[in-house]
Amino acid sequence: MKIVTLLAQKGGTGKSTLSIHLAVLAAASNLKVVIADIDPQQSTTFWNERRASDAPDVIPMKANTLKKHIAELKRQGVDLLVIDTAPHSFEDSVIAAQLADFILIPTRPAILDLQAIGFSVEIVKNIDGKAAIVLNGCPFPGKNGERAIVSEAREALAGYGLPVSPAAVSLRAALSHSLINGEAVTEFDSNSKAADEIRGLMNWINQEANLW
Ligand SMILES: Nc1ncnc2c1ncn2[C@@H]1O[C@H](COP(=O)(O)OP(=O)(O)O)[C@@H](O)[C@H]1O
Ligand SMILES: [Mg+2]
Repeated sequence: MKIVTLLAQKGGTGKSTLSIHLAVLAAASNLKVVIADIDPQQSTTFWNERRASDAPDVIPMKANTLKKHIAELKRQGVDLLVIDTAPHSFEDSVIAAQLADFILIPTRPAILDLQAIGFSVEIVKNIDGKAAIVLNGCPFPGKNGERAIVSEAREALAGYGLPVSPAAVSLRAALSHSLINGEAVTEFDSNSKAADEIRGLMNWINQEANLW
């Protein structure tokens, strides 16, 4: 079983959104997928309550029960566990990061967010985890490709010394609309640009982390 942890000490960067989208795409590839929702706000758990399909499964749990759950999920033959973490939860984030094969740190391409991910990068470095940063909520690319604010964000992020996904995710209404009915955008509007970007990101993650 592979474990991917979505980590960001700041709220609203896209941890839950990307957890859901990664888990749905993996489940669509016939993997047995579970999301461990360790955020007391339970965004992914509530999403699952609105969802018609029972894959991926979402299990709300406390960080200190992760190890016990992981042993059980391995016994059940789960292929991929995605851990959705809470912001401002240093100790829980450390536990979730330590258990991960791959840690994904989402950030918006804005200065306050770019500085705030220093805390998450520190967690990853302290445990010597395998990790990457992904830019989420970006302005859509123009005719000449990525916008300046996104390229500038990449330059700023280079200082953290972690890989940054070449695939960024734009701020697109379909991404949050799809969640209303418990879907992912790859189900809600599979031919949309939002779905293309999500598939691009997940392909890159899959290559980096060898998930399936
Ligand atoms: N790329 C995006 N495009 C549009 N809306 C987004 C995008 N990423 C996140 N959102 C929305 O922003 C809000 C915060 O995202 P969320 O995934 O809940 O962040 P976190 O889990 O890190 O707190 C949610 O309403 C979500 O639907
Ligand atoms: Mg969340």
